[in-house]
Formats: sequence, structure tokens, C-alpha cells
Amino acid sequence: MPNQKPFWNKILFFFFFFVLSVYVNVAPVSSKSTIEPCSNSDSCNALLGYTVYTELKVSEVASLFQIDPIGILTANAIDISYPDVENHILPSQLFLKIPITCSCVDGIRKSVSTHYKTRPSDTLASIADSIYSGLVSADQIREANSISDPTVLDVGQTLVVPLPCTCFNGTDNSLPAIYLSYVVQPVDSLTAIAGRYSTTITDLMNVNAMGSTAIKAGDILAVPLPACASNFPRYASDFGLIVPNGSYAITASHCVQCSCGPGNLNLYCMPASLAVSCSSMQCKNSNLMVGNTTAQKSGGGCNVTTCSYGGFVNGTIITALSTSLQPRCPGAQQFPPLIAPPSSVIRESIYAPAPSPRSDGAGTLSPKSPLVPTTSGSHPGLPLPPESGPSGSASDASPVNPLATLTSASLLFCFVKFIMAIL
Ligand SMILES: *[C@@H]1O[C@H](CO)[C@@H](O)[C@H](O)[C@H]1NC(C)=O
Ligand SMILES: *[C@@H]1O[C@H](CO)[C@@H](O)[C@H](O)[C@H]1NC(C)=O
Ligand SMILES: *[C@@H]1O[C@H](CO)[C@@H](O)[C@H](O)[C@H]1NC(C)=O
Ligand SMILES: *[C@@H]1O[C@H](CO)[C@@H](O)[C@H](O)[C@H]1NC(C)=O
Ligand SMILES: *[C@@H]1O[C@H](CO)[C@@H](O)[C@H](O)[C@H]1NC(C)=O
Repeated sequence: MPNQKPFWNKILFFFFFFVLSVYVNVAPVSSKSTIEPCSNSDSCNALLGYTVYTELKVSEVASLFQIDPIGILTANAIDISYPDVENHILPSQLFLKIPITCSCVDGIRKSVSTHYKTRPSDTLASIADSIYSGLVSADQIREANSISDPTVLDVGQTLVVPLPCTCFNGTDNSLPAIYLSYVVQPVDSLTAIAGRYSTTITDLMNVNAMGSTAIKAGDILAVPLPACASNFPRYASDFGLIVPNGSYAITASHCVQCSCGPGNLNLYCMPASLAVSCSSMQCKNSNLMVGNTTAQKSGGGCNVTTCSYGGFVNGTIITALSTSLQPRCPGAQQFPPLIAPPSSVIRESIYAPAPSPRSDGAGTLSPKSPLVPTTSGSHPGLPLPPESGPSGSASDASPVNPLATLTSASLLFCFVKFIMAIL
């Protein structure tokens, strides 16, 4: 019938207009971050991938996150024996791993121990995007501080800065791991990120509950880093210490330093170079100090005696002496290479094409993760990760419109169906 056409055209026009306006309204708030549900009060060590926004002293970066400057240096394998290293000026745009404590707040893993004191000319957007390099959004700061009018910030106001982190039980595919919260940069691809952090696309997709390899600048990914786990008693103040391969941690009031890698993933602790006024680090009934090993060839193998660090309890360094018969005598302890305090940013190292990841990814199971089904990641509503491995759920960084992507995607889908139906 000829008079039906204009009618349909009108419907089509209005529907299209409607979809377009909804899409335009919701599209800007779709940065994703990985959410890990949690139910207990346990916390874990985690890392933030932070880009220094302007030239800052090590101690200034530390005070932005209210953490120990030495902790930042050791986490990045920067040599702390340089004179006055805490006042060393770090170059703008330097990428650092910031060690933080990841807690459970309102059923979700996050860090809430960071506070920021506002200065003149700060805006929520500059605090979020620049000072904290996109690890938090302006809306999240507004929400966490119940700010009704974000255009009015009093100078000197102290704001809680909620920061993203995940624990996933300190493991990835049953191996010890610490999680880095990584803000995707415009030049990034999932392949490059997997290559840079020696993981696989499949693993990144599983951990972050991703349905596709698409990532966008501003998304925040949880990147598992292989690590050395400690076995300290629960009542030790450094219970749960976990150190990623290639780096160091300082503990026991700067008395003990622990390192991880490169040869194996056994945590190795010894007296720190800064150690002053520390409790005894000598093992009982022995002349060995924390970190010392003696080896004696004996019939059939090597008798190895080790004095190891067992945690910091009530200001006391716990030591443990162990003896074992090993097939071969151990060689000298290997340490991760240290770097000098950086003074310039080497662009190539950040943006160079990363080496190929160990596995190509989408849809194929890596041999590393035989127990984690690829589909486990694709149910954002999954209340708890499967036991065999971590799996987060993706969520919008902004609390304003949690269904933004879903809404626009399903409306587009309806629109396409509608068009197909009438053609
Ligand atoms: C630790 O990192 C080093 C350097 O990146 C690498 O060569 C080594 O294979 C890693 N060790 C383990 C046990 O993963
Ligand atoms: C034990 O460790 C201390 C401090 O790390 C070191 O100075 C000393 O040489 C070590 N002794 C032995 C026997 O390895
Ligand atoms: C290994 O060495 C320890 C301490 O030196 C000693 O007490 C123990 O008897 C030795 N064990 C063997 C099997 O030689
Ligand atoms: C630590 O010290 C407190 C008070 O001195 C004591 O109650 C507690 O039992 C001590 N903890 C351990 C593990 O020794
Ligand atoms: C958590 O990790 C520990 C080892 O670190 C393991 O024994 C335990 O089964 C894990 N729990 C879950 C729920 O995966």
C-alpha cells in the first residue's frame, strides 16, 4: 500500500533519532575497570601502574599515596644506596609500580587509604586524570566524598581517593601472583600489554572477564605478575608479603629486604643495606644471619643449612634455621638487576613494540591455564570467581551509568533488527 511508506519512514526517523541521542548521551562514560567481589576483611599487597604527572621527588610521589618512599624504590628495582635517594627528582611521564594495600570495602576490592589535600586550581578532573594518572575517575572521587557541587573545591580540603586493586587470592592459575592495576594508554593493545608483562592474552581476558580483545584508553586492567610469596605467620605485621619477579621489598622497619627472581620464584630475604638499630637477625643455635646459607658436600648430595626470615612480630625479627639434603649444592644467590634512580624517560622502552606473548590468544586456552575455561570471564554477573583461577567482572569506571555500554549496544541491536524486519 502506497500510503504506508511515509508512516514507516517517520517511525524509522524517530527511532533512529532516539537511538542516536541515547547513544551520544551514554557513550562517553564507558571506561571499564575490573571488579573483584570480596567478602572478608583480609587485605593483600597489590600494585598500581602510575605515570608521574610532572617532575616529582620520590618522597612527593610517596606522599601522594601515603606510602614509604623506600617501598616505591624497591618495588621498581631502583638502587636505594644512592645518596639522598628519597629526594631524587623523578622525570615527568615516568611509569612506576606503586605498592599499596588492597582491602575489601562494601563487598568490592579497592584501596581507600589514599587521601589528597586539594591545592589552588585543582579540579576533580585534574586530580583524577593528571595527578592520579587516570587510576580514578572524577565521578568516583565525587561519590567517595559525597561532593554535591564538584565546581566548588575548597583549597586544603582532604579527599579520599579510591584506587582500583585486586587480590584474587594472591594466585593466578594456582601460582603466586600479585596484581597490577594498569591504565590502558592510547597506544596500547592487549597483545602489547600481555607481551610487556610476560603473560598471555587468554590470561588477561580471563582475569578481566573480557568478552573480546578490544581495549580502550582509560580502561583499567588487572595484570597478574608472577611473584614470590612469603609464608609468615598471620600475626606477623608483614603477613602476606608478596614480591613480583624482578623486584625487591623492604620490611621489618627497614631492617630486612626481600627479593624475587630471576632464577626461581623463592622469596629471598636478607639484612637491608639501610638496617640500623634492628633486633637480632641471627638464627638461634647458629652463627648464621638471615639470608646466610652454608653447604657441605656429603655422601649422595649436599647438606644445606639456611637461616631465613620468618616475619616481623612485635618489633622482633623472626628467624628460622632449616637443614635439608639437596642433590646439588646451591650456587651463589642471584639478585634482580638494580637500576639507577631514573632521570629521564626512555620513550622507546614504553612505546616500543612488545615481544610476542607466549600464547596468541582470543578463544584459545593457553597451556598455562588448563583449569580456567575461557567462558568463565564472560559472565559479568558471576558473584564469585571460580576456584581454579581468578576472574573479575568488568564494570564501568563511572558509577553514573553502569549500564551504558549494555544499553547502547542493545539499542543498536534492536535498531538493526528493526531495520531488517521492515526491509
Ligand atoms: C623472572 O624475570 C626474569 C627477567 O624478566 C626472567 O628472565 C625470568 O624467567 C623470570 N623468572 C621466573 C621464574 O619466572
Ligand atoms: C651472612 O650474611 C651477612 C649479611 O648478609 C654477610 O655479611 C656474611 O658474609 C654472611 N656469612 C656467610 C657465612 O655467608
Ligand atoms: C647437616 O649439617 C648440619 C649442621 O651443620 C648437621 O647438624 C647435620 O647433622 C648435617 N646432616 C647431614 C646428613 O650431614
Ligand atoms: C605482641 O605483644 C603484645 C603486647 O606486648 C602481646 O599481647 C602479644 O601476644 C604479642 N604477640 C605475639 C605474637 O607475640
Ligand atoms: C588461595 O591460595 C592458597 C595458596 O596460596 C590455596 O591453598 C587456596 O586453596 C586458595 N583458595 C582459593 C579459594 O582459591
